[in-house]
Amino acid sequence: MFSLGEIRNQAIDSLSEGQKQKVGLATVVAMQIKNIILDEPTANLDPESTEELAKILQRLKKENYCIMVVDHRLYYLKDYADKVYILEQGSVVEEGCFNVISNEVIKKYGLRKTSVTDRRQSLNRLQTTNDCIAYCQNLSFKYKNGKEIFHDLNLSFPLGFHVLLGRNGIGKTTLSRLVFGLEKPSSGKVIFKDDKVKHPLSYGSIVLQNTDYQLNMSSVHNELKSCFELSGQKYSKERIKELLKELSLENFEYCHPQSLSGGQKQRLVIGCALCKNPKILILDEPASGLDGLNMRKIKQILLDYYKKGHCVVVITHDLELIDEDYIDANEIKNQK
Ligand SMILES: Nc1ncnc2c1ncn2[C@@H]1O[C@H](COP(=O)(O)OP(=O)(O)OP(=O)(O)O)[C@@H](O)[C@H]1O
Ligand SMILES: [Mg+2]
Repeated sequence: MFSLGEIRNQAIDSLSEGQKQKVGLATVVAMQIKNIILDEPTANLDPESTEELAKILQRLKKENYCIMVVDHRLYYLKDYADKVYILEQGSVVEEGCFNVISNEVIKKYGLRKTSVTDRRQSLNRLQTTNDCIAYCQNLSFKYKNGKEIFHDLNLSFPLGFHVLLGRNGIGKTTLSRLVFGLEKPSSGKVIFKDDKVKHPLSYGSIVLQNTDYQLNMSSVHNELKSCFELSGQKYSKERIKELLKELSLENFEYCHPQSLSGGQKQRLVIGCALCKNPKILILDEPASGLDGLNMRKIKQILLDYYKKGHCVVVITHDLELIDEDYIDANEIKNQK
């Protein structure tokens, strides 16, 4: 299942987020308990694994399992879901077969689409050039266990809105950590356009795949305030309120960040990243945990940001997020 053989002997805490999700799903299936609830099972899965999960669910359904999937992504459930419930403010507002998710319902409740086009192959491929904000030159990297992730990789990040694609476990998160100096390459280097950059994190921002690692303060307000202060950017109470409104978090200003939902946390860490006014912004799966409305909002915020003359790089498996013409792509494929 999910080709987990290659990571059989690896420590759980060294797995990629998608690999962890697959191990979790495999464990549930292996237990053969006939009532299963899956909470956003595809949030970190690549499209091929999402497809595989759909087939597994279909098989379990035939074996008389009762499966409840709680998810924002809908397209992969189209042929399998017997019943759909839409929740709003604590109550079920719609229920029925999959067709209950009409365009009108999608609009009314800010849902995601029921079918998506896979545009990964048709996106413009970025040309390798050293005239860019950041450039990975002959980058090689191995983890301590000897696993080589990159060998002589050349990749550029020019101004613009780009996506970084690649299957689960290929090294997207590792690459973002290398760019920001959070991992050290075994050879090669990352060159920034501004050669006076003291540390990459003073020049750019990274939004991690797991938002819990980035939220440390006692309130949403303080989280943003500390980001403004640490990066030396000017701010005011009004600016914080404005940012919260853009992120649809205006009602949560004094809530504890850890009390927010997954999607709300996701929007908050994006807000924190923007406080720094970074030249290069790398976001690792920023749309996971977001409903359709908020995914579109975040996308708009990121587009507005790149149009101001920045480099925005989105690492994603989300086919809905990249369903546009203007996006350029970098793709990491098998290195060996
Ligand atoms: N600390 C570590 N030690 C050993 N191997 C690691 C470590 N961290 C990650 N890996 C391995 O390196 C590979 C790349 O991991 P990475 O998290 O960069 O993948 P990814 O492309 O971001 O995947 P995903 O799409 O699932 O998020 C994976 O095979 C992972 O198991
Ligand atoms: Mg990753």
